[in-house]
Amino acid sequence: MLATALATVGEPLRRVDRMERAVGIIGGGTMGVGVAYRFAVAGASVHLADIDLDHAKQSVAQVRASLDIGVERGKLGQDTAAQAGARITAVASIDDLPEGLALIVEAVVEDMSLKADVLGAAEQRRPDVLASNTSSISIDDLAAGLQTPQSFAGMHFFNPVWAIHLVEVIRGAATSDITLATILETVGFLGMEAAVVNDVPGFASSRLGIMLGLEAIRMVEEGVAEPEAIDRTMELGYRHAMGPLRTGDLVGLDVRLAIAEHLAGVYGERFEPPALLRKMVAEGKLGRKSGEGFYEWPQG
Ligand code: NAI
Repeated sequence: MLATALATVGEPLRRVDRMERAVGIIGGGTMGVGVAYRFAVAGASVHLADIDLDHAKQSVAQVRASLDIGVERGKLGQDTAAQAGARITAVASIDDLPEGLALIVEAVVEDMSLKADVLGAAEQRRPDVLASNTSSISIDDLAAGLQTPQSFAGMHFFNPVWAIHLVEVIRGAATSDITLATILETVGFLGMEAAVVNDVPGFASSRLGIMLGLEAIRMVEEGVAEPEAIDRTMELGYRHAMGPLRTGDLVGLDVRLAIAEHLAGVYGERFEPPALLRKMVAEGKLGRKSGEGFYEWPQG
C-alpha cells in the first residue's frame, strides 16, 4: 500500500522534515498526552490545545511527567526527554494553533458532533494533513463537514501510545493518495508501524476488541468467573498481552461505552453495551483513570 501510494504521488511533497517543524494535537486526555509524547520524542515541535489554556498546560505537564517516567524506566535518555519536553507548547484554543502545521491530530472525546466542530475549527488553521484519533466514528461521516476532505484521514493510536507501536490508518473515500503517503511517512518518522484499513465503523481493531471486551463483561455479569480468571484465559491461553477486562480499565470504561453505543447503532444488538458496563460508568468506575474498574488502580 505504501509503495502504491508513493508510486502514485512520486516523491512525497510533504516531507518528514515538515513534521519536524511542527504538529498540533487537540485534546490532551489519555490519548492526546501519549500522541504528544511520541511526536516530541521523535523530534517534532508539538502545539497542544485542550478546552482552555489551563487544561492544555496540565496536559503538557502530564507529557513531561511521562517523559520523566520513561527516563526512570530506562526507555529514554535524560537529554532526549529534556529536549522532547522543551518541544511541547500549550495553546489556549484551536484558533491559537499556528497556521500551516504539517499535521493536526484531533483526540477529543468520542462524540460525533464535538469532533465535527473541532475538526471544522482545526481545518481553518490550514494544516497539510488533518487526522482524527477516533476509535469508531466513520472517517467519511467526519469528512462530510470538511472543506478539504482529501487531506483528512484516521490515525488511530493505541493506549498506552508510548508502548504500542501501531497506528491503524483509516483511509476515507475522499482521502487522497498524497495524504495517505504523508501519514504513512509520519508513522515511520514516529518509529511506528501502520495497518491501513478502509473506513468501516469500528475499523478493524475496535470492532474486534470491543466485541471481546463486551463478551467478557457479560461473563462477569453472569458470574462465569472473576475478572482476573477471565483475563488469564486470554493472556495465557491465547497469548494476548493483556486480557479484555484489564484492557477496558486501561482504555477507560466510559470510552468503551461510547464506542459500544456507537457500534450498536450501526451493527445492531451484538454491540449492545451490557447493563454492568452502564452501571459502572454511571457510578464513576471508569478504570485506571478513576482508581477503580474491574480492578483497583491505586492513584498517584
Ligand atoms: P479523554 O477523555 O481522556 O480526553 C479527551 C480530552 O479532550 C480531554 O482532555 C478534554 O478536556 C478534551 N476536550 C474535550 N472537548 C474539547 C474541545 N472542544 N477542544 C479541545 N479539547 C477538548 O479521552 P481519550 O481516552 O484521550 O480519547 C480521545 C479520543 O481517542 C477518542 O476519540 C477515543 O475514542 C480515542 N481513543 C481512545 C483510546 C483509549 O484507550 N482511551 C484508544 C484509542 C483511541
